[in-house]
Amino acid sequence: MNLMNFTDLNSLKADLEKNFQNLPLVEKPEDIVHGEGNESASVMLIGEAPGYYESVQRRPFVGRSGQLLRKILAESGLSEKEVYISNIVKVRPPDNRDPLQEEILAFKPYLDAEIQVIKPKLIVTLGRFSMGKFLPDVKVSEVHGRLHKIKWNNQTLFVLPMYHPAAALRATRIKESFVKDFSKIEKIVNWVEKASATEEFTETVREALL
Ligand code: URA
Repeated sequence: MNLMNFTDLNSLKADLEKNFQNLPLVEKPEDIVHGEGNESASVMLIGEAPGYYESVQRRPFVGRSGQLLRKILAESGLSEKEVYISNIVKVRPPDNRDPLQEEILAFKPYLDAEIQVIKPKLIVTLGRFSMGKFLPDVKVSEVHGRLHKIKWNNQTLFVLPMYHPAAALRATRIKESFVKDFSKIEKIVNWVEKASATEEFTETVREALL
């Protein structure tokens, strides 16, 4: 079955576990860390790959960087119900190394299907790997916190690239940007819900939003 035909996340997760032998990094279905959150969330956050604590608890973003992410999420007024959190690669790479291109490609159909089911108003990419899925050839340091309107699988998507929370843990300046970028999410989602159908996405709109 074409994964894009799935209409709910539970069957998609079941399919991923059933076909684990076709995927890199996976030795057993329990190695997989699925996305988490509301199936009709307006905001979808996409990280890189699970780390140690994520793979033990089988939940995305529960280690050190995840705790920072969830704290800032709570402080920004967004409830966890409004968001869905996932990763570009759904199994922990050995020694937490960067995911390989072939691993990203192998998990791509699942991430694409998650996006298709959730239909988020806004996708927030965390770090360069998930950003690269939608915005190739740009640098996080140059585009973080700037709303992008893109065409994806014949649909319009709004993408807000942000630093990865692990980078925010390493440098105060990046943490400040991370918090500031996060604080824009609610306003952007409101705009996407109300005005995006009628208003042109111009530099003026971009400046008004950000
Ligand atoms: N870093 C990520 O990119 N994803 C997680 O789930 C945890 C840490």
